[in-house]
Amino acid sequence: MRVFVAGATGAIGKQLVPRLVAAGHEVHGMTRSQSRQALLHDLGAVPVVADALDPDQVAEALARVKPDVIVHQLTAIGAVDTRHMERDFAPTNRLRTEGTDHLLSAAQAVGVRRFVAQSNGAFVYARSGGAVKSEEDPLDPTPVRKMRAIIAALRHLEGAVLGADWTQGIVLDDPARVAEWLPALALAQALGAKKPRRVPLLIGRLFAGECGVQMMTELRGASNAKAKRELAWRPAHTSWRQGFAAA
Ligand SMILES: NC(=O)c1ccc[n+]([C@@H]2O[C@H](COP(=O)([O-])OP(=O)(O)OC[C@H]3O[C@@H](n4cnc5c(N)ncnc54)[C@H](OP(=O)(O)O)[C@@H]3O)[C@@H](O)[C@H]2O)c1
Repeated sequence: MRVFVAGATGAIGKQLVPRLVAAGHEVHGMTRSQSRQALLHDLGAVPVVADALDPDQVAEALARVKPDVIVHQLTAIGAVDTRHMERDFAPTNRLRTEGTDHLLSAAQAVGVRRFVAQSNGAFVYARSGGAVKSEEDPLDPTPVRKMRAIIAALRHLEGAVLGADWTQGIVLDDPARVAEWLPALALAQALGAKKPRRVPLLIGRLFAGECGVQMMTELRGASNAKAKRELAWRPAHTSWRQGFAAA
């Protein structure tokens, strides 16, 4: 298949492109930057220079490539201060809203058959009840104020992509609390990071803000039962424990 990867030069894109190429697909990778074309060549992709926030550039790129599949891995998450989530996520929110819309409308115009995008289940679910949520579970009725724009952008992305009736969401088998996986990641990966410290909520709020405390203590995981049931999908690594070790 001919696959168009938006976000091909990113952390995920750089892993994904060579795997798609190795699986026999013709991959076209998008970047904003002329200078990153060589990287895309090295990864095995045909470089496409376009800005995801410019609808004309996106439409022109997709009209030229005419892909079978679009994979949306765009993001602009840089250094994040959890006390200023709205500010730090504003560029990513634009990519999740405007960027998604530009890709979808250009995709429709050239008859793309499949569109794969990533959401983030943890941020959107109600922070009460069980630790693992399904698509039927309620969303957070009272998000932390500084998380609202992020959640709205994620919900826009999900609504736009699922509204196009082209894809379904999938997660791993073994959702875990941050208090469980973060120390394991630091140790298993020998990242050179110190073992994370536990601090009282008051101190956490002071240094990480309300959003930081919420992200570290209240987020829920998402169930993959529906994808397994309806798509016969099986994750390559069933648990983050194996995934961390393999990475
Ligand atoms: N990074 C995280 O912490 C994190 C956490 C949760 C979920 N995710 C999700 O994982 C997926 C991939 O993220 P990642 O970590 O691989 O991202 P990343 O390493 O930050 O890479 C971002 C990619 O987006 C591209 N991009 C950004 N703005 C663009 C624009 N205006 N026009 C065209 N391309 C643009 C960049 O291309 P150029 O710079 O070459 O133009 C780059 O290829 C996203 O769906 C993201 O929401 C990431």
